[in-house]
Amino acid sequence: MKSWPFWAFPLTIQSLAVPLSEKPAALAPDVEVTRLTQKPKGDFREYQHSVLENGLRVVNIWDPNTTQAAVSLAVTVGSFSDPKGFDGLAHLLEHSMFLGSKGFPQRSGFDAWLAQHGGSSNAYTAEEQTVYYASVNSKALEECLERYADIFEAPLFNASWIWDEVQAVNSEHNKNRKSQEWRIQSLIGQMAVAESPAQRFHTGNLETLRRTDQESLAKEIRQFFNTHYCPPRMRLVTFGSASLESQLEQAMASFGKMSREGQGCEALAPTWAAGPPPFPSSTLRQMLRMQGLTPKPELHLVFPMTNLQPWVRSNPTAYLEHILLYAGGGSLLLAWRDQLGVASSLAVSQEDSSAGSKIIVSMALLPEGVERLPELFEAFFAFVGRARARTREQKLAVLGSLQESAQLGYDWAALQEASRAASQMANDMTKLAASDLLVAENLILDPDVDKIDRLLERLRPEGMLAILVDAANSSFWRRSPEDARS
Ligand SMILES: *[C@@H]1O[C@H](CO)[C@@H](O)[C@H](O)[C@H]1NC(C)=O
Ligand SMILES: *[C@@H]1O[C@H](CO)[C@@H](O)[C@H](O)[C@H]1NC(C)=O
Ligand SMILES: *[C@@H]1O[C@H](CO)[C@@H](O)[C@H](O)[C@H]1NC(C)=O
Repeated sequence: MKSWPFWAFPLTIQSLAVPLSEKPAALAPDVEVTRLTQKPKGDFREYQHSVLENGLRVVNIWDPNTTQAAVSLAVTVGSFSDPKGFDGLAHLLEHSMFLGSKGFPQRSGFDAWLAQHGGSSNAYTAEEQTVYYASVNSKALEECLERYADIFEAPLFNASWIWDEVQAVNSEHNKNRKSQEWRIQSLIGQMAVAESPAQRFHTGNLETLRRTDQESLAKEIRQFFNTHYCPPRMRLVTFGSASLESQLEQAMASFGKMSREGQGCEALAPTWAAGPPPFPSSTLRQMLRMQGLTPKPELHLVFPMTNLQPWVRSNPTAYLEHILLYAGGGSLLLAWRDQLGVASSLAVSQEDSSAGSKIIVSMALLPEGVERLPELFEAFFAFVGRARARTREQKLAVLGSLQESAQLGYDWAALQEASRAASQMANDMTKLAASDLLVAENLILDPDVDKIDRLLERLRPEGMLAILVDAANSSFWRRSPEDARS
């Protein structure tokens, strides 16, 4: 199944929750329903957020034009919660969900049914989320929801089928190893301290998942499911051409009665906010050299810091990205490319988890760049120093124009296709308040120069892990991603 898009920079959206004047008559009295009215100008879809009595949060999306419907379910647990001795268990559980359920016991029966109804299904396991999604032709949404609900209510977890499924997980790991992006992420993970979940092996393979016997593995899977897959930790999204009211009724009919009472379900998601920071200063101010899979050299400057997710409404990284990517006079890119001849392109990404965030400044190096890294670093930190030294008024002016261009991009962004729109929403629902859905990640809602200053403050050589990726078999090598990750 798909891996998490590590490099996707989360420029996102915001929404104002407005209570509906009247609830659909068929709804139970204590279902809270709000319309999400703050959305892009070019978005004719309609969105509605509800909290069901069992704690499940639901967003229904109405698209009158669509022929494709979609459903997505996100759970607030991921590979950070892998039990000791079972690296990759959250991921294996993600695979094991589709090996038959009580009402539909056929192995992979859901996928077979979807194929007959113009759809398909996929999922990914991230550090603190697991997101499932499926598309199906519009007419079949109701039946799709029934089947989906049965899977999340009563999966079979047949021990010998789970044991077999480890092969699929292992193949995925073997495929990942040929991905440069994964190798870089893996190397960064290995630099974290041993006590941090960031240091662990998240995909899993034969070695980490077949340490015990079939029955023990199945027991571990069921235990993990019972502990974490509870309705208050699930987010359901439906997408289709049926009215919002009818989609909500279908969601309630299928998922509304789900309950995990008496099964040891933990209603609150685990957090690593109080744990040891994954990248204390002893792990930083280092340069690693990694053998790349292509001859094109790259440089990644990794700056670990405290979790930036709570700052999502201010989005200070958008400011950083804006000044770094600005290509006019006095810009960093001009200096690097035209004056120094060291780098040809630049990208900024942000990755968040409760354990901490990372800002990663990545660049494609020109061949000469590899030999001239000291100059490149000097130019970078001098540029950041100048950015830091700008007055508050100067920063506010830049922020103002950035806010406007973010608004334009937000209002006229292309609409995502059904299953992408549903899975993106489900993922956002694990991180954002209902009122911030559709808006918080794409706009700068609370412009805040202090947060920008605090971010710029973190961009210093002593807070950096630099990774040079090139074709050379270098003496800088510490461990290869494959060797270290069995
Ligand atoms: C989609 O539906 C809206 C509202 O009914 C309509 O205004 C719009 O023209 C439709 N767009 C397409 C591409 O059919
Ligand atoms: C699991 O599947 C196997 C192989 O199809 C079957 O023989 C076995 O009875 C199943 N186990 C359970 C507990 O249903
Ligand atoms: C790369 O370097 C290591 C250690 O210096 C050496 O053992 C290995 O043979 C080298 N590989 C290649 C392809 O040169």
